[in-house]
Amino acid sequence: MVGKIKGTGSYRPVQVWDNDKLSHMMDTSDEWIRGRTGIGQRHIASGGETVAYMAARAAEEALSDAGMRPEEIDLLLVSTMSSERIMPCAACEVQKLIGAVNAACFDLNGACTGFLLALNTAQAYLGQQIYRRALVIGSETLSHLTNWKDRSTCVLFGDGAGAVVLEAEENAVYTQAVHSIGSKGEALTCVSRNQQQFIEKDADISSTYMQMDGKEVFKFAVSKVPEVIMEVLEKAGKTKEEIRFYMLHQANKRIVASVSKHMNEPLEKYPMNIENLGNTSSASIPLLLDEWNKKGRLNSGDWIILSGFGGGLTYGASLLQW
Ligand code: ACO
Repeated sequence: MVGKIKGTGSYRPVQVWDNDKLSHMMDTSDEWIRGRTGIGQRHIASGGETVAYMAARAAEEALSDAGMRPEEIDLLLVSTMSSERIMPCAACEVQKLIGAVNAACFDLNGACTGFLLALNTAQAYLGQQIYRRALVIGSETLSHLTNWKDRSTCVLFGDGAGAVVLEAEENAVYTQAVHSIGSKGEALTCVSRNQQQFIEKDADISSTYMQMDGKEVFKFAVSKVPEVIMEVLEKAGKTKEEIRFYMLHQANKRIVASVSKHMNEPLEKYPMNIENLGNTSSASIPLLLDEWNKKGRLNSGDWIILSGFGGGLTYGASLLQW
């Protein structure tokens, strides 16, 4: 017994910043950003578009797609590393906003692998028959953790939320693998929320922004993602030819293209929406899943691989049947 995805939903902030706008804010260009990353624009949260608000909007859409009422959900997980509040957790805020009054709620932080980790957690509960229906959401306001004076990182990120509804089913299939390399954690950091720094005069607040060794992260992603996908395929006794889509965390078009090449599987099997959304960390996989679901590209019975990678460093893959 594991969960099957019954519905998907998403939320994209109203405000859109394209590369030309960024080129007026700093020394960069549409050509550089598109060429190195595949990103053309990103959505930027404003006003009341918090992690919890976006998560709630995505959750409502997923519930409607699944034909379920909020009271029917008994587990509600939010994956995020950018929640505006430390307490209450975003999942409890979502519960209040959508009326999922019967759900157990908590947040997880697994950086860009976070959605996959939340999905695995929900599957563990559903597999043990502790809960029957789960809402799993990835929601991020990365623009709040971005140093808008650092052109090497700020052009990469965007805000948004994606959600899926899972229901336990006898014949559903789910196979997963996750790994962590804590010793390489310094390649991607954000030592945020250190309030003391703001009190100290002349405090160095650079650590409150995301910092990244881009080349190190690139090398890590292109070597480990194919490895973990093959691990999951072997575990499940599936071949790569049986997979309809590989849905990867949308960090960089060149990372996706490199994984496709390593796997010797055509790029058409790797959906991408990074051009319109940028890197939305743990929201990127459910945003992509929802887009392909809404476009009617997913058929019942399709085998799909999801793969996330990022801060930690962490990486993982999951196989599911649509
Ligand atoms: N616009 C114009 N020039 C820029 C910009 C910019 N936005 N940013 C950097 N440059 C310049 C640099 O200053 C450098 O100039 P120099 O040669 O005169 O010194 C030059 O461009 C090359 O910089 P590099 O950092 O070497 O560029 P690189 O080819 O490595 O690309 C990138 C940078 C896109 C970040 C790449 O390393 C990458 O894709 N890394 C993967 C990591 C990633 O995607 N992280 C996302 C977050 S992590 C995650 O989600 C898992």
